[in-house]
Amino acid sequence: MNWKEAVAGIPSMYRANYLRAIADCVGTKVRGLVEIGCGYGDMSAILATAFPDAVLHLIDPWSNDRGHIVSSPGGYFYKEHESLDQVYVSVCARMADIDKGSGRIVIHREWSPDAAFAWKFLDTVDLVFIDANHSFAGCKNDIIAWKQVLDNSRAGRVGPGLLCGHDYGTRGVDQAIDFCFHGNVHLGHDGSWVHVLER
Ligand SMILES: C[S@@+](CC[C@H](N)C(=O)[O-])C[C@H]1O[C@@H](n2cnc3c(N)ncnc32)[C@H](O)[C@@H]1O
Repeated sequence: MNWKEAVAGIPSMYRANYLRAIADCVGTKVRGLVEIGCGYGDMSAILATAFPDAVLHLIDPWSNDRGHIVSSPGGYFYKEHESLDQVYVSVCARMADIDKGSGRIVIHREWSPDAAFAWKFLDTVDLVFIDANHSFAGCKNDIIAWKQVLDNSRAGRVGPGLLCGHDYGTRGVDQAIDFCFHGNVHLGHDGSWVHVLER
Protein backbone atom coordinates (compact mmCIF):
# COMPACT_ATOMS: atom_id res chain seq x y z
CA MET A 1 0.00 0.00 0.00
CA ASN A 2 1.41 3.44 -0.88
CA TRP A 3 0.97 6.45 1.40
CA LYS A 4 -1.92 7.90 -0.62
CA GLU A 5 -3.90 4.68 -0.16
CA ALA A 6 -2.97 4.69 3.54
CA VAL A 7 -4.20 8.29 3.95
CA ALA A 8 -7.45 7.42 2.12
CA GLY A 9 -8.02 4.70 4.73
CA ILE A 10 -7.88 7.09 7.71
CA PRO A 11 -11.67 7.72 7.92
CA SER A 12 -12.40 3.97 8.10
CA MET A 13 -9.65 3.63 10.71
CA TYR A 14 -11.23 6.39 12.76
CA ARG A 15 -14.66 4.74 12.56
CA ALA A 16 -13.37 1.31 13.57
CA ASN A 17 -11.42 2.74 16.51
CA TYR A 18 -14.48 4.69 17.67
CA LEU A 19 -16.46 1.43 17.72
CA ARG A 20 -13.61 -0.29 19.52
CA ALA A 21 -13.50 2.48 22.16
CA ILE A 22 -17.25 2.22 22.76
CA ALA A 23 -17.02 -1.57 23.08
CA ASP A 24 -14.25 -1.18 25.67
CA CYS A 25 -16.21 1.51 27.59
CA VAL A 26 -19.39 -0.55 27.90
CA GLY A 27 -17.53 -3.83 28.50
CA THR A 28 -18.54 -5.70 25.37
CA LYS A 29 -16.23 -8.48 24.34
CA VAL A 30 -16.69 -8.54 20.58
CA ARG A 31 -16.41 -12.11 19.35
CA GLY A 32 -18.96 -11.98 16.57
CA LEU A 33 -19.09 -8.96 14.26
CA VAL A 34 -21.27 -8.46 11.19
CA GLU A 35 -20.72 -5.77 8.56
CA ILE A 36 -23.72 -5.08 6.32
CA GLY A 37 -22.61 -3.46 3.05
CA CYS A 38 -18.89 -3.94 2.45
CA GLY A 39 -18.17 -2.34 -0.93
CA TYR A 40 -14.48 -2.79 -1.70
CA GLY A 41 -13.75 -4.09 1.81
CA ASP A 42 -12.02 -0.94 3.13
CA MET A 43 -13.90 -0.89 6.44
CA SER A 44 -13.86 -4.70 6.65
CA ALA A 45 -10.06 -4.72 6.54
CA ILE A 46 -9.80 -2.19 9.34
CA LEU A 47 -12.48 -3.87 11.47
CA ALA A 48 -10.42 -7.06 11.23
CA THR A 49 -7.49 -5.21 12.82
CA ALA A 50 -9.52 -3.30 15.42
CA PHE A 51 -11.30 -6.46 16.59
CA PRO A 52 -8.62 -9.17 16.37
CA ASP A 53 -10.58 -11.63 18.55
CA ALA A 54 -13.77 -11.44 16.52
CA VAL A 55 -15.13 -13.62 13.75
CA LEU A 56 -16.11 -11.19 10.99
CA HIS A 57 -19.16 -11.88 8.84
CA LEU A 58 -19.29 -9.65 5.75
CA ILE A 59 -22.64 -9.34 4.01
CA ASP A 60 -23.09 -7.76 0.58
CA PRO A 61 -24.82 -9.04 -2.58
CA TRP A 62 -22.31 -7.34 -4.91
CA SER A 63 -25.24 -7.24 -7.30
CA ASN A 64 -27.69 -4.93 -9.01
CA ASP A 65 -30.35 -7.60 -9.39
CA ARG A 66 -32.83 -5.67 -7.32
CA GLY A 67 -32.44 -2.54 -9.43
CA HIS A 68 -30.54 0.56 -8.47
CA ILE A 69 -28.72 0.09 -5.17
CA VAL A 70 -29.52 3.03 -2.91
CA SER A 71 -26.28 2.36 -1.21
CA SER A 72 -24.56 5.60 -0.43
CA PRO A 73 -25.48 9.23 0.22
CA GLY A 74 -24.33 10.05 -3.30
CA GLY A 75 -26.51 7.33 -4.85
CA TYR A 76 -24.90 4.45 -6.72
CA PHE A 77 -21.72 3.38 -4.91
CA TYR A 78 -19.65 1.68 -7.61
CA LYS A 79 -18.03 3.03 -10.73
CA GLU A 80 -20.34 2.98 -13.71
CA HIS A 81 -20.10 -0.29 -15.71
CA GLU A 82 -17.86 -1.84 -13.07
CA SER A 83 -18.35 -5.59 -12.86
CA LEU A 84 -19.64 -6.42 -9.38
CA ASP A 85 -18.54 -10.02 -9.88
CA GLN A 86 -15.01 -8.68 -10.18
CA VAL A 87 -15.41 -6.50 -7.10
CA TYR A 88 -16.62 -9.59 -5.21
CA VAL A 89 -13.61 -11.61 -6.37
CA SER A 90 -11.21 -8.82 -5.39
CA VAL A 91 -12.79 -8.48 -1.92
CA CYS A 92 -12.49 -12.26 -1.45
CA ALA A 93 -8.78 -12.07 -2.36
CA ARG A 94 -8.22 -9.07 -0.10
CA MET A 95 -9.87 -10.78 2.86
CA ALA A 96 -8.02 -14.07 2.22
CA ASP A 97 -4.80 -12.09 2.46
CA ILE A 98 -5.82 -10.73 5.88
CA ASP A 99 -7.38 -13.96 7.13
CA LYS A 100 -4.35 -16.07 6.23
CA GLY A 101 -6.34 -19.30 6.47
CA SER A 102 -7.59 -18.73 10.03
CA GLY A 103 -11.22 -18.80 8.86
CA ARG A 104 -12.19 -15.81 10.97
CA ILE A 105 -13.43 -13.74 8.01
CA VAL A 106 -16.54 -15.16 6.37
CA ILE A 107 -18.02 -13.57 3.25
CA HIS A 108 -21.74 -13.93 2.55
CA ARG A 109 -22.85 -12.81 -0.90
CA GLU A 110 -26.38 -12.08 0.25
CA TRP A 111 -28.92 -9.29 0.58
CA SER A 112 -29.77 -7.76 3.91
CA PRO A 113 -32.13 -7.96 5.71
CA ASP A 114 -32.86 -11.40 4.16
CA ALA A 115 -29.56 -12.62 5.60
CA ALA A 116 -30.70 -11.61 9.10
CA PHE A 117 -33.83 -13.74 8.88
CA ALA A 118 -31.80 -16.74 7.77
CA TRP A 119 -29.13 -16.17 10.42
CA LYS A 120 -28.27 -19.61 11.71
CA PHE A 121 -24.55 -19.82 11.26
CA LEU A 122 -23.24 -17.90 14.21
CA ASP A 123 -23.62 -18.48 17.94
CA THR A 124 -22.63 -15.03 19.03
CA VAL A 125 -23.18 -11.63 17.46
CA ASP A 126 -21.92 -8.72 19.56
CA LEU A 127 -21.59 -5.91 17.04
CA VAL A 128 -23.42 -5.16 13.80
CA PHE A 129 -22.21 -2.35 11.52
CA ILE A 130 -24.81 -1.18 8.99
CA ASP A 131 -23.59 0.65 5.86
CA ALA A 132 -25.79 -0.73 3.10
CA ASN A 133 -29.02 0.75 1.78
CA HIS A 134 -29.09 4.37 2.98
CA SER A 135 -32.77 5.06 2.27
CA PHE A 136 -35.14 5.45 5.24
CA ALA A 137 -36.87 2.12 4.56
CA GLY A 138 -33.64 0.27 3.80
CA CYS A 139 -31.81 1.45 6.89
CA LYS A 140 -34.87 1.03 9.15
CA ASN A 141 -35.45 -2.55 7.94
CA ASP A 142 -31.80 -3.38 8.56
CA ILE A 143 -31.90 -1.92 12.07
CA ILE A 144 -35.05 -3.83 12.99
CA ALA A 145 -33.83 -7.14 11.57
CA TRP A 146 -30.31 -7.02 13.00
CA LYS A 147 -31.51 -5.77 16.38
CA GLN A 148 -33.40 -9.06 16.65
CA VAL A 149 -30.24 -11.00 15.82
CA LEU A 150 -28.32 -9.13 18.52
CA ASP A 151 -31.16 -9.64 21.00
CA ASN A 152 -31.33 -13.38 20.31
CA SER A 153 -27.61 -13.94 20.41
CA ARG A 154 -27.13 -15.30 23.88
CA ALA A 155 -24.40 -17.91 23.69
CA GLY A 156 -21.47 -16.84 25.84
CA ARG A 157 -21.94 -13.14 25.35
CA VAL A 158 -20.15 -10.58 27.50
CA GLY A 159 -21.62 -7.07 27.66
CA PRO A 160 -24.29 -5.22 25.71
CA GLY A 161 -24.86 -5.63 21.98
CA LEU A 162 -23.68 -2.81 19.74
CA LEU A 163 -25.89 -1.83 16.83
CA CYS A 164 -23.87 0.63 14.76
CA GLY A 165 -23.61 2.13 11.35
CA HIS A 166 -22.36 4.84 9.08
CA ASP A 167 -23.61 8.02 7.43
CA TYR A 168 -25.51 9.62 10.23
CA GLY A 169 -26.16 13.11 8.86
CA THR A 170 -27.80 11.89 5.67
CA ARG A 171 -31.55 12.08 5.40
CA GLY A 172 -32.64 8.44 5.16
CA VAL A 173 -30.22 7.24 7.83
CA ASP A 174 -31.15 10.07 10.22
CA GLN A 175 -34.84 9.32 9.79
CA ALA A 176 -34.31 5.60 10.41
CA ILE A 177 -32.23 6.20 13.52
CA ASP A 178 -34.71 8.70 14.96
CA PHE A 179 -37.57 6.30 14.20
CA CYS A 180 -35.85 3.29 15.80
CA PHE A 181 -33.93 4.81 18.73
CA HIS A 182 -35.66 8.11 19.60
CA GLY A 183 -32.34 9.82 20.30
CA ASN A 184 -30.84 6.90 22.24
CA VAL A 185 -27.76 6.78 20.05
CA HIS A 186 -24.13 7.89 20.31
CA LEU A 187 -22.67 9.88 17.43
CA GLY A 188 -19.02 9.88 16.47
CA HIS A 189 -17.28 12.06 13.94
CA ASP A 190 -17.47 11.08 10.30
CA GLY A 191 -21.06 9.86 10.49
CA SER A 192 -20.65 6.93 12.87
CA TRP A 193 -23.62 6.05 15.06
CA VAL A 194 -23.89 3.48 17.85
CA HIS A 195 -26.86 2.21 19.82
CA VAL A 196 -25.95 0.27 22.98
CA LEU A 197 -28.40 -2.59 23.36
CA GLU A 198 -28.72 -3.92 26.88
CA ARG A 199 -29.46 -7.65 26.69
C1 LIG B 1 -21.30 2.61 1.05
S1 LIG B 1 -20.93 0.99 0.47
C2 LIG B 1 -20.19 0.21 1.86
C3 LIG B 1 -18.83 0.72 2.19
C4 LIG B 1 -18.07 -0.05 3.26
N1 LIG B 1 -18.89 -0.27 4.44
C5 LIG B 1 -16.81 0.69 3.65
O1 LIG B 1 -16.86 1.55 4.56
O2 LIG B 1 -15.77 0.43 3.07
C6 LIG B 1 -22.52 0.29 0.43
C7 LIG B 1 -22.57 -1.20 0.08
O3 LIG B 1 -23.84 -1.69 0.47
C8 LIG B 1 -24.21 -2.72 -0.40
N2 LIG B 1 -25.65 -2.92 -0.27
C9 LIG B 1 -26.66 -2.18 -0.79
N3 LIG B 1 -27.85 -2.69 -0.45
C10 LIG B 1 -27.57 -3.79 0.33
C11 LIG B 1 -28.36 -4.74 1.00
N4 LIG B 1 -29.71 -4.71 0.95
N5 LIG B 1 -27.74 -5.73 1.70
C12 LIG B 1 -26.39 -5.79 1.78
N6 LIG B 1 -25.59 -4.91 1.15
C13 LIG B 1 -26.17 -3.92 0.44
C14 LIG B 1 -23.73 -2.24 -1.76
O4 LIG B 1 -23.54 -3.36 -2.64
C15 LIG B 1 -22.41 -1.55 -1.40
O5 LIG B 1 -21.34 -2.43 -1.54
